[in-house]
Amino acid sequence: MSKVVHQPLGIGLHVAIIMDGNGRWAQQRGLPRAEGHRTGVRAVRRVVEAAVQERIDILTLFAFSSDNWRRPTTEVGSLFELLREYLDREVRRCVEGGVRLSVIGRRDRLPAPLGVAIAAAERATASQARLRLRLAVDYSSRDAILRAARLRASRALEAVATREVFGRLVAAPELAPPGLPEAAGALPAIPLPTPAEAEVDLLIRTGGERRLSDFLLWESAYAELMFTDTMWPDFGPPELGAALREYRRRERRFGGLAATG
Ligand code: IPE
Ligand code: IPE
Ligand code: MG
Repeated sequence: MSKVVHQPLGIGLHVAIIMDGNGRWAQQRGLPRAEGHRTGVRAVRRVVEAAVQERIDILTLFAFSSDNWRRPTTEVGSLFELLREYLDREVRRCVEGGVRLSVIGRRDRLPAPLGVAIAAAERATASQARLRLRLAVDYSSRDAILRAARLRASRALEAVATREVFGRLVAAPELAPPGLPEAAGALPAIPLPTPAEAEVDLLIRTGGERRLSDFLLWESAYAELMFTDTMWPDFGPPELGAALREYRRRERRFGGLAATG
């Protein structure tokens, strides 16, 4: 018996994107890397709008990895500043477009004004339901898995340590939620992500590299992977549309057998 899952049009789809290539895009034009990041923000806006049109359910964008702290402080600073500006400016547009925004990753190392902007954007968009937009900031997938394993090891979660619950802990929005009960008799007092947030359907990386760079490792166990040489500032609705068409042509078997027609 073969059982093949064909993805319906857009519905319930979780797309994740490693937005890579800003620096090279700028350097190819003789511009400072920061210009690439600035232009990259415009690409984010276009792609979020296209994601709503395409009826994508969840869009997770890699904005800053925990390893990006290795970059010069001036570049790190300008990235955070751009992110803060983006959040401040986009909230209204998110509400109009039905976009619920949240941030996954560590927050304790971020500049205070950025933390404030994140909290404000999450609050302002909390009731929106057309698209779940998750920005990964100071995010490391291995750290997320480690944190889930620590929770799992605490007595509190022994009874519920199924693969599904563990996956949802891995996908939890904050890596270090304050006030987490160490040994309570129930799940931690953080909203558990939905199963859909814990499963990536389509993972796209722009910028030509063929690697995951510590992004959504658990969640991408059966994700369809797509790598494009397009630099992130040049990525837009047509490229997203092409990726979705390619995704729909692929056959996801999840270890089963191909359809025999
Ligand atoms: C992606 O572009 C943005 C971040 C990692 C923050 P890069 O800055 O990595 O651009 P390249 O890879 O150097 O071209
Ligand atoms: C991955 O890109 C992180 C983001 C896009 C935010 P990097 O440019 O940091 O990845 P590596 O260093 O090429 O693996
Ligand atoms: Mg890069």
